[in-house]
Amino acid sequence: MIDQATIERIHEAARIEDVVGDYVTLRRRGVNMIGLCPFHNEKTPSFTVSPAKGIFKCFGCGKGGNSVHFIMEHEQLSYVDALKYLAKKYHIEIVEKELTAEELQANNDRESMLLVNEFAQKYFTNTLHHHVEGKAVGLSYFHERGFRDDIIQKFQLGYCLDERDAFTKEALKAGYNKDFLVKTGLTIDYATSENGEKVPPVGGFRGADRFRGRVMFPVHSLSGKVLAFGGRVLKKDDKTAKYVNSPESEIYHKSNELYGIFFAKQAIVKHDRCYLVEGYTDVISMHQSGIENVVASSGTSLTPGQIRLIHRFTENVTVIYDGDPAGIKASIRGIDMLLEEGLNIKVLLLPDGDDPDSFARKHNSSDFIEFVEKNAADFIRFKTNLLLEDAGNDPIKKAKLVQDIVQSIAIIPNQIIRAEYVKECSTLLNVAENVLYHEISKIKTKEFEARINKKPEDEKKEETVSVKKTPETISITKFEKEERNIIRTLLKYGRNILFKDENGNTLCVDQYIFEELENDQLIFQNEKHRKLVEEYKNSFEENNFIAEKYFLNHPDYELSSLTADLISDKYVLSKIHSKFHQIETDDNRLNELAPRYIYEYKLVMILQKRKDKMLEMKAATEKSDETRTMELMSEIKQIDFFKSKLSEELDRVLNLL
Ligand code: CTP
Ligand code: MN
Repeated sequence: MIDQATIERIHEAARIEDVVGDYVTLRRRGVNMIGLCPFHNEKTPSFTVSPAKGIFKCFGCGKGGNSVHFIMEHEQLSYVDALKYLAKKYHIEIVEKELTAEELQANNDRESMLLVNEFAQKYFTNTLHHHVEGKAVGLSYFHERGFRDDIIQKFQLGYCLDERDAFTKEALKAGYNKDFLVKTGLTIDYATSENGEKVPPVGGFRGADRFRGRVMFPVHSLSGKVLAFGGRVLKKDDKTAKYVNSPESEIYHKSNELYGIFFAKQAIVKHDRCYLVEGYTDVISMHQSGIENVVASSGTSLTPGQIRLIHRFTENVTVIYDGDPAGIKASIRGIDMLLEEGLNIKVLLLPDGDDPDSFARKHNSSDFIEFVEKNAADFIRFKTNLLLEDAGNDPIKKAKLVQDIVQSIAIIPNQIIRAEYVKECSTLLNVAENVLYHEISKIKTKEFEARINKKPEDEKKEETVSVKKTPETISITKFEKEERNIIRTLLKYGRNILFKDENGNTLCVDQYIFEELENDQLIFQNEKHRKLVEEYKNSFEENNFIAEKYFLNHPDYELSSLTADLISDKYVLSKIHSKFHQIETDDNRLNELAPRYIYEYKLVMILQKRKDKMLEMKAATEKSDETRTMELMSEIKQIDFFKSKLSEELDRVLNLL
């Protein structure tokens, strides 16, 4: 974790208008600046930057935050990586927060493995371009395949010499620890491996290069670090596997990675579409043709983790197939999973058994782009037609086909889209719509029953594999609005003095809020709100505590984004707000906001409680439980008394405003 002082230094250097100005042309308007939003298409500017507050906000698409949040969104980086990105840009040294010995060890291990991989990538690339064997064998292989030099460079392709341990020796000589060479899989330790090949020891152990004699494809993480390698043989030889890949490790979980995502992420966002292909060379060839929003699942079927990764950037996926029917049918299952995640799927079939790589070689890039755009077909339509061809006039096959299609439609989460498909498939299959609906509801009932009957431990297991909605999904908790009002007041005016008695004792806004909440034992429903309040209580007595700044620059992304969100609410930034604007400039009256929001919050809570009691009473009456009914009646009367008191107080404060 990066410590708060460093984060503050980054914020001081990375002025919002500066950071945003690199990507957006900004014009001054009053105290703010405006421009065209880089996150959605618009013709009139609704993207606002407030240099004074250090935040941006788009009133069109709702995106907002500080300069780090802007970089996160624009460069598709994590919070920490965005901080590092800005630190680098503004030449600020990052001081990492102290970690526990365990965390340190784990971090060090991962860091060391990444460093080894980085060294290896540079070594393999260097071999490809400068070593006699590298040039004669590796580079000429890529050239024969038609890869351009700029593309070979961009993907950091390389070559591993056809010697037992040329790489391992070099890495040991450069000071890399053998443990990490083995952990990353670059080196195979034959002393510990089962087949115990007799290799003379180097630097004290029997290590050999895993990738000897192969051209190298580095696999990059979302932020561009080398996590793993794929190595391809050059000779046509049925005995050796075409590709050898790095094994699973602490830094490489194959099922969560997609080949090419680092090079594709911006193009995916820009085109709001992701192309999905099978292999390394398909990704590379498509880039060469100018199609950059493309990733590969690397030969395995798609996993939930990979689907989630795509979903972070777009909802629209086009799966590209080579036209081999067996292959298509095999991968259709994986596509159903994409549907389940709520993605919109198109399918593109390449002609004559071509894969994207061979197709790209036969056509120039504008033809390729045109072909892709013209021929992508809707997945369900595609699947229906494909299976229809198969079934012919066989009624049993046809019935099975209907089942199959309906299964795909049933898992689409969006009801409106589902209805569209039912309509279309009813025509295509010549089956009445209500028959299809009947089938869908049968499937849904079955699923429901299966869920109900599941044992708890199954449920738990499933939770970890099941596809979740995008991490961005905002869940709105009860009383969200009221809680937000209180937290915003805390952030903006918390340390202001609210009351002063004749002896000069003071009560600050924050103390008032905490006392009021504690007196009635009120706890916020929203977890982030609770977290902010806790952190506030722990730190407001520190010197120079300025809540807005403290939380906006907080190392915890949840707190920093929540703060940015709260202080960029429309009325805070926009110039045309009536009452509130005046209030904001008048410190004394502004403090009256705190009681108002507290009363409003208490009022909604008490209304909720009344509702619950009423329901309970209804149930008691139905059961003819008279004692309980009477009890509840008097409780409700009590509630009504407090409610009217609260309303009076609230009216009083509102009149003051
Ligand atoms: N793959 C693998 N191991 C293999 C074969 C394939 O890991 N033995 C993975 C690779 O990620 C490969 C992808 O599956 O990129 C697709 O396989 P394939 O189409 O056979 O390879 P291509 O990438 O198309 O390679 P080439 O065009 O050089 O044959
Ligand atoms: Mn291929």
